[in-house]
Amino acid sequence: MPILSYKILEKIKPNEISTTGAEEGVLSILIKTDNEHYKAQVYSELVANRLAMFLGIPVALGVPAKHSETKDRLSFASLIAFEEDSEIYDFTHIDYRSLEPPRNAPKGILQGMDHLREVIKLTKLYPLEIAFLTVFDFWVGNEDRSYNFKAELSKGNRGIIFALDHGSSLLACQSTIDKSLEQLEQQDYPRFHPFQKLIHPLYAGEMIERITSMPDWAIESATVFDETIGNVTPMDQYALFEALRVRRKYLRQQIQNIM
Ligand SMILES: Nc1ncnc2c1ncn2[C@@H]1O[C@H](COP(=O)(O)OP(=O)(O)OP(=O)(O)O)[C@@H](O)[C@H]1O
Ligand SMILES: [Mg+2]
Repeated sequence: MPILSYKILEKIKPNEISTTGAEEGVLSILIKTDNEHYKAQVYSELVANRLAMFLGIPVALGVPAKHSETKDRLSFASLIAFEEDSEIYDFTHIDYRSLEPPRNAPKGILQGMDHLREVIKLTKLYPLEIAFLTVFDFWVGNEDRSYNFKAELSKGNRGIIFALDHGSSLLACQSTIDKSLEQLEQQDYPRFHPFQKLIHPLYAGEMIERITSMPDWAIESATVFDETIGNVTPMDQYALFEALRVRRKYLRQQIQNIM
């Protein structure tokens, strides 16, 4: 599997203390912050990223970030992928082709899905990653996968695939933290997924196993911090930790329903 690299925007100068020739520079990032409409976006991005890293899910890495002018405000910086040396297909844009599903498309796939042919190709090229990602989305309550991934499709063999944007999952799956926790209690949430009916049962089973056998300490260290993150208090963070422990119990049934 090729490694996902991130984009260096600028190299500024050699680091004066470095004995190994290190240079200082600037990465390309997308900065996401909490606001009136997206109250727990930063926290949810951060937690989803940490959980994904632990589980081996291909996501674009992101880090907590601050700006010198607004030190009290934590942002989430999604590191922008370096795409210049690869032909990455952009599933993040709306597709105006209004494609009819091909005849061999499985029954029960998401209706009116954009990039349909490319999605079908994707599931054949990357069956493991697609199954892993789908199971993960069901666990973290992400109904917003449709335009939030990119992948190389043109090479003929496997290349890079990565998911991004988890700012509408976890404690940000609804407009408020309380409503999100209520939503996460629902066993029939998410209600749909762009890869439904397209995932490989063996690989889905493997990710279900990884999530159900994930140690509580690992879930806790990904979800609970010593401080409030944006609008999310430690009490909310514990509530999410508990919600995720409960949700993984019915993950198997949820995935069976979309096979
Ligand atoms: N790490 C990344 N690497 C490459 N491209 C990225 C990355 N993160 C974001 N983008 C691009 O920036 C767009 C906006 O990012 P993102 O989806 O996180 O923001 P958003 O505000 O939640 O948008 P939306 O509501 O449209 O999903 C993405 O659709 C994608 O095209
Ligand atoms: Mg997005």
